Amino acid sequence: MKILSIVGARPQFIKAAAVSRALRARHTEVLVHTGQHYDDAMSEVFFRELGIPSPDFNLGIGSGSHAEQIAQMLVPLERLILAERPDSVLVYGDTNTTLAGGLAAAKGNVPLTHVEAGLRSFERSMPEEVNRVVVDHLSALLLCPTRAAVENLQREGITAGVELVGDVMLDTARRFAETWPAGPVLEGFAVEPGRYYLATVHRAANADSPERLAAIVEAFESLPKPVIWPVHPRTAKELEAHGLSGAVAANGNIRAIAPLSYRQTSALLRSASALLTDSGGMQKEAYFFRIPCVTLREESEWVETVESGWNVLAGTDKDAIVTAATSFETPLAHPDFYGDGHAAERVVAALERHAGC
Ligand code: UD1
Repeated sequence: MKILSIVGARPQFIKAAAVSRALRARHTEVLVHTGQHYDDAMSEVFFRELGIPSPDFNLGIGSGSHAEQIAQMLVPLERLILAERPDSVLVYGDTNTTLAGGLAAAKGNVPLTHVEAGLRSFERSMPEEVNRVVVDHLSALLLCPTRAAVENLQREGITAGVELVGDVMLDTARRFAETWPAGPVLEGFAVEPGRYYLATVHRAANADSPERLAAIVEAFESLPKPVIWPVHPRTAKELEAHGLSGAVAANGNIRAIAPLSYRQTSALLRSASALLTDSGGMQKEAYFFRIPCVTLREESEWVETVESGWNVLAGTDKDAIVTAATSFETPLAHPDFYGDGHAAERVVAALERHAGC
């Protein structure tokens, strides 16, 4: 079986680390990097740390508007898919890379496999929601991380080719994050377990809104413990553009730093007092490590983290953020919503069944 996998943004490298390994144990994988994320800190470091094979092709697309990114990816992706003639094209998650890969596969008449299918925020102004909905409706094989995702697809009339495989990010967390010692990383940042918060902000709705960004900064300033904040390049630009980077730099409670590697992130997350984030993947990683999560959005795709009490949706209201972070009541129960850490093997088994091998 020959699979052409398409990655491009940071969260996809973490997912590919699990799937590529399982796939290559028995089959041929052609790995394509669109280059949506391109800095060493946003891309190469993940390949090195997680042992992901070097991409066979890098399209070097880089930054741009949504239309620019998607349009520039489509032509070379179509060419590659037609030349390679894989049994399936595999895409991950909800980025512009996912959408471009999905469209190119559908137009090339090659079966499309979507890993992390069925996620919904029910917020169509969110670019990622549009990407997910379109890609799910183009996919032949829809591999869902959770039961809620399967049910979302059912409600949209998608039942054929849907399988619950578990979450491939848990596979990566189990294999790497849980086995790496956190101590040296914490020492490097001069912090002690439970005595700091970890924060990330990059969603367009937050990064591109001066009001929301300012409220987030104010909330971080008001927290009773230091906030370690690896700043996403998109957010760094917007902080600068909205005249907020000075406030961030001057505030003793906020430690704004460059984007971290997976190893550094997971080490800091595992010992944090709480995570404050608008990331999708990190809400789950907090759950894997039993760390309280305060989500800087009004909705979450990972509804089970919220319903179980491990994740509080605080939006960007300063008081709501501070209250959630300082009075978090950690639940006793911690169900296995995301499977057993062997999702990648199920992804490969589903691909084999689908390809008839
Ligand atoms: C993208 C995804 C989002 C995902 C996130 C993870 C879409 C629509 N969004 O958002 O789903 O959760 O990645 O990080 O696909 N930049 C750099 N260096 C880089 C990468 C980006 O400086 O290595 C800058 C670019 O100049 C750009 C900005 O960051 O202006 C945003 O990058 P972009 O690729 O548009 O998407 P993200 O905001 O990272």
